[in-house]
Amino acid sequence: MYRSHVLICGGTGCVSSGARDVTESFRNAIRDRGLSDEVLVVPTGCHGMCEMGPIVVVYPEGTFYCRVQKSDVAEIVEEHIYKGRPVQRLMYSGSEDMPSIPRYKDIPFYGKQHRIALGNCGYINPDNIEEYIARGGYEALGKALSSMTPAQVIDEVKASGLRGRGGGGFPTGLKWSFCASAKGDKKYVICNADEGDPGAFMDRSILEGDPHCVIEGMMLGAYAMGADEGYIYCRAEYPLAIQRLKTAMAQAENYGLLGENIMGSGFSFTLHVKEGAGAFVCGEETALMASIEGRRGMPRPRPPFPANSGLWGCPTNINNVETWANVPPILRNGGAWYASKGTDKSKGTKVFALTGKIKHTGLVEVPMGITLREIIFDIGGGILDDKKFKAVQIGGPSGGCLTEEHLDTPVSYESLTALGAIMGSGGLVVMDETTCMVDVAKFFLEFTQKESCGKCVPCREGTKHMLLLLEKITKGKGTMEDLDTLEGLAHMVKDMSLCGLGQTAPNPVLTTLRYFRDEYVAHIRDRKCPAGACAALLEYRIIREACKKCGICARNCPVKCIPGDRNSGYHIETDRCIRCGTCFEKCPFGAIEKK
Ligand SMILES: Cc1cc2nc3c(=O)[nH]c(=O)nc-3n(C[C@H](O)[C@H](O)[C@H](O)COP(=O)(O)O)c2cc1C
Ligand code: SF4
Ligand code: SF4
Ligand code: FES
Repeated sequence: MYRSHVLICGGTGCVSSGARDVTESFRNAIRDRGLSDEVLVVPTGCHGMCEMGPIVVVYPEGTFYCRVQKSDVAEIVEEHIYKGRPVQRLMYSGSEDMPSIPRYKDIPFYGKQHRIALGNCGYINPDNIEEYIARGGYEALGKALSSMTPAQVIDEVKASGLRGRGGGGFPTGLKWSFCASAKGDKKYVICNADEGDPGAFMDRSILEGDPHCVIEGMMLGAYAMGADEGYIYCRAEYPLAIQRLKTAMAQAENYGLLGENIMGSGFSFTLHVKEGAGAFVCGEETALMASIEGRRGMPRPRPPFPANSGLWGCPTNINNVETWANVPPILRNGGAWYASKGTDKSKGTKVFALTGKIKHTGLVEVPMGITLREIIFDIGGGILDDKKFKAVQIGGPSGGCLTEEHLDTPVSYESLTALGAIMGSGGLVVMDETTCMVDVAKFFLEFTQKESCGKCVPCREGTKHMLLLLEKITKGKGTMEDLDTLEGLAHMVKDMSLCGLGQTAPNPVLTTLRYFRDEYVAHIRDRKCPAGACAALLEYRIIREACKKCGICARNCPVKCIPGDRNSGYHIETDRCIRCGTCFEKCPFGAIEKK
């Protein structure tokens, strides 16, 4: 029995800011102080506040320390652990002039969160199966194998109202029932851990922080559907997640929880990890299965759906990491418990990756039905540098941009679709007044265009033409006819593409055209970018009254287009200016304006 536990985040974010060294230093300092029998150091998964890492939490007090460096460890051990005086300077505080908040649970970032899929992340050592078991792990599997029929497991998942967290939101229990009733002696279950959306790391964090819950979820699904083999398709760019999955699988096998005749029930299950090469389109379920089979990852038409003809032609069920991670808590606590959270048609919670111009970026799990305003302002702390909120892109690169008027929209599959956006897998990019919405649409389309597999013409050629039009507009060379062509192409690509990539790629363009049309018009009619972001439409000018004639701009201009001297002053030769912005950044007196 230990009197104190030092939990150190071992997620990718904190590892990259030095968590491994901090862990080593804690172990050494605790040993040197003679406290090894009283204090246990536990590496954990992600707490969601990765930008504040490395995160250290000391229990039983629940003191939350941020940005802990090796050099801070001796002080925490000596002051907090040895003398019982927590170290205030390392505690979280919202900003420099705010008091520090000693306890984890009082931090506003966590106030409105409700953690189910992330329930164990940050609390247990993901490399230790016993810690997972101590938190109720494998209890649901034991319950299902000993006292539930496969049909009862499916009924419980149906009762929970769980919907696929990979983007589509298809009811999970219903999908399982299709595969369960499909004919075939051999069936597969697959976990989709491809997570290709730029900026998304929900699935990675679950796999890194709680790999056993995904494994247990898959086993419950396999039992319910009559499958005896599974694949976790994880992008190779997630080495830590893969390593922890493999460790967890080996431990589960040692405990008789994976493999032949699990818990003496007669149910057997074999699991493999398949590394993907990181193509966005390989997250699409038919492309993913082709990739597992060793073929090029390209979508194929459906039907047949995977439930009838999936991996190697066998009935297959594919779910997202977060979907699988919700299954053990649902089976442990009952479908009704899960269904009591969320909205009428969107039950439970959703994990989002909060990024962009927001004070606190990170990973959050919130109940469905929460408003965008609560996520962005109450949890995320509002807009960086107190600038004005402009838009939020929800649903990843194929999502839509919503505006101020949508901030009080309750987050659910239905409400977001009605506004032209999608839940997607949980990307949330917040934008402020300095963001150009035409540029944003171009940015996301660039991504989907590059990732198009090229199999069908509307997606392959249509997105390319759309991109050319957006480039033309952001360079101030667009016409009003281009706007109509762009909109027409967007609808054509959406309606005629084979897979979800092409069907959703135009969403950023369509939503920005719907909610920010005036910005497109300003680029075309006035040859101006209202947000001052499109370089080609900017003009730099020296404000004579503010200029101190120091010449710093002229010395730094890469094309030497700021002639003048200390006596006569300086001016910018606009026709030679390449709009690099160096003068604007370098002038110490703010004497350069861009318009
Ligand atoms: C281009 C494209 C990329 C996708 N990427 C992913 C992904 O990375 N992870 C994921 O779970 N689903 C992804 N999906 C959705 C999957 O095709 C599939 O619907 C999902 O894995 C089903 O699981 P769910 O029912 O649990 O959501 C993608 C779909 C498309 C069209
Ligand atoms: S819609 Fe795009 S990504 Fe999908 S199959 Fe067609 S070309 Fe490939
Ligand atoms: S924007 Fe760049 S190129 Fe133009 S004047 Fe300033 S430093 Fe020179
Ligand atoms: S990786 Fe440590 S808080 Fe996210």
